Amino acid sequence: MAFTRSLVSLLAVLATTGCAIAAPSSNHPRNQGGNGQGNNGNGNGNGGNSGNSGNSGNTWASQWQPDANGVVHYGYNASFGSGFNNATQIRLAYRGCDGMSVSFATNSRQDQPQVKYGTSNTSLSSTAMSTVSITYETSPKWENHVVLEGLQSDTTYYYQVCDGPILSFKTARCAGDMTPYSVAVVVDLGTMGEYGLRQNMPSDISNALKAGELNTIQRLVAQSSDFDFVIHPGDIAYADYWAKEQITLGSNLTIQDQILGYNVINEAFFDEISDVTKHKAYMVGVGNHEANCINGGYKQYTEAICVAGLTNFTEYKARWNMPGDGSPTNNFWYSFDVGMTHYLIFDTETDLPAPYHGADVVGGTESMNEANVGSYSNAQVDFIKQDLASVDRSKTPWVVALGHRPWYAAASGLFSDGLSVFEPLFTAGNVDIVMHGHVHLLTRTYPVWENGTVQQKNYTEPKAPVYLINGAAGHYDGLDSVATPYPGYVAFANDTMYSYSKLTFHNSTHMSHAFMASGDNHVIDEVTIQKTH
Ligand SMILES: [Fe+2]
Repeated sequence: MAFTRSLVSLLAVLATTGCAIAAPSSNHPRNQGGNGQGNNGNGNGNGGNSGNSGNSGNTWASQWQPDANGVVHYGYNASFGSGFNNATQIRLAYRGCDGMSVSFATNSRQDQPQVKYGTSNTSLSSTAMSTVSITYETSPKWENHVVLEGLQSDTTYYYQVCDGPILSFKTARCAGDMTPYSVAVVVDLGTMGEYGLRQNMPSDISNALKAGELNTIQRLVAQSSDFDFVIHPGDIAYADYWAKEQITLGSNLTIQDQILGYNVINEAFFDEISDVTKHKAYMVGVGNHEANCINGGYKQYTEAICVAGLTNFTEYKARWNMPGDGSPTNNFWYSFDVGMTHYLIFDTETDLPAPYHGADVVGGTESMNEANVGSYSNAQVDFIKQDLASVDRSKTPWVVALGHRPWYAAASGLFSDGLSVFEPLFTAGNVDIVMHGHVHLLTRTYPVWENGTVQQKNYTEPKAPVYLINGAAGHYDGLDSVATPYPGYVAFANDTMYSYSKLTFHNSTHMSHAFMASGDNHVIDEVTIQKTH
């Protein structure tokens, strides 16, 4: 069993600092096979476990006893021992320019998750608390969400979760602040190392990491002074790739493999990325690999093998606390301002209005049969219309929209329903930049509108959005091949390098985008847009 190899290192990481330690609770979903989902306090709760995949009653928890070889499998309470309960996987998200959401994982539920903070690292004089401590079936952790409010903008704060180390972050610049800054964008990332992108990958996997190359997570850490925050619109941890890993290793899939494998990959990724997310706001959107335990299916297996807690974006809903109106859609579509830019995060995976379908819902192209999130079919579209109509371009002249799945790219398998639904909204809303991933390559378009019509072949005073696709952050499967000949709207494409994107806003009329090589940080392609708003 390959996944057991990481248990020792994971447990070593866990045994560090302490939060409140809760006694083992019969109410914990891990102890209740028929009651799968905790309430997350944000309205994102999922329904109870209907007991699929043979896990009804109290069987699914009890089967996670140590096996005949004494191996305690991940996902079982006892694997975490007792007497410690640390805060790990700290994640920040902007909450306006006067707040910061701090999310973190613990091994037991916290009655009152709390964060101490202040502007001096020797005096954390304030404390923020919440009651949001949530989990889901098969999760080894509880997700805790606390929001720090009433902060000063563009200011460094020091903070501490439980008894962990004192960390720091910087709050966002308010809308109207025209100070130049940069933001990093990554899509299609996944874990790096033993269960992800690495050197010496299986022979059917292309684009192994080259000797001496930094991967994208390492690059984000190394270049952290180059950008203020990070946006990651979808395909985050790729924990649903446990099945492919197992099959590559020659195993048949079992429910045990599912829980063990999913959790090991998930935990590994969020441990790795926390080197970024505990210092920088990390604003996420949803992708297909957040949907369920097996990305809809792999080979002869389908999503029917997934236990309820690993379906319907449950992990994604529990883990994140993006800004919004407090509804279940918070992590799926929302907007925020930083300095001279308005950012709109939209959702290509669910919640398109009839007759169109989000890719991952019933009727969608991915056959995942998951559920919409909004309270009615036009909820997302109505939000986008209202949001774009309310942008104050005197304060945020630049508008950037980010969603996972592209309808323009030098690639096959483009998202035609997204073209039909979103393009008219973005053109009418005078969106400047649209960013996607999903296809593991790079594409920069000319300003383009009206079903692929090139509006002009330069970047001076464009009247249509420029599309920037970068799904090359470094997933285990490697890079995709560009589709040739390129469509006429494609100005640049590349399928040879792992990459992150860097947007730089110079002033109200000039901004730049660069595809940066993760391996050595050279600029692969750069464009500057000049636009008077
Ligand atoms: Fe994707």
